[in-house]
Amino acid sequence: MRILLTAGPTREAIDPVRFLSNRSSGKMGFAIAEAAKERGHEVILISGPVNLDPPEGVETITLESAREMFEAVRDRIGDDVDAAIFCAAVADYRPKEVAEQKIKKSGESMTLELEKTDDILGSARSVFGFEGILVGFAAETNDLEANARGKLERKSCDLLVANDVSRTDIGFDRNQNEVRLFYADGREESLPMQEKSELGREIMSRVEGMSM
Ligand code: CTP
Repeated sequence: MRILLTAGPTREAIDPVRFLSNRSSGKMGFAIAEAAKERGHEVILISGPVNLDPPEGVETITLESAREMFEAVRDRIGDDVDAAIFCAAVADYRPKEVAEQKIKKSGESMTLELEKTDDILGSARSVFGFEGILVGFAAETNDLEANARGKLERKSCDLLVANDVSRTDIGFDRNQNEVRLFYADGREESLPMQEKSELGREIMSRVEGMSM
């Protein structure tokens, strides 16, 4: 299969030296890329800034912002992609204006106006016309099942991988994760806590199963 993956956080510039971002390390997405490669698939990995070595034999595109990630996905998702897996923690909002020069400290408080970024996963079907297997991720602190099912439907995914980020032993920047899988046909599956490398293989085996 030909697989497109997004991974890592995005950075949304405030001025030349500052940005808004999040705690994503990219480990989960890189683990899936590695597993997919190992299992004989062709992988395009589109990643935000991370401290990880690109997996060997994987075409890796690195970029910074949600806008750049949107454009990279738009440009590559039409290239005979069989499955698209959106693991990146894309910023939902970015500063409406990026200051050309470093913002100087002034009053006792400051307000940043933010605007919505494009929803890349949410555009896969409706804007890019992608018809392959679509996998989304959800990091939730509460109401995991309802939020995950809502996202699965709203973004027309075949599979949504959800994890509870209120727990400090798993998830963001950890080597292990524990996830629940929600399928479009209503099925649900829990994968126990395990190394992200192992979880990457488990997720890839589910994706392969859906292509049959
Ligand atoms: N995602 C994306 N582009 C965005 C935001 C999210 O591709 N601009 C993808 C993520 O890669 C992940 C899923 O969408 O696969 C996570 O969606 P999330 O941001 O949690 O969903 P929202 O609909 O924004 O819901 P909320 O912010 O209300 O939790």
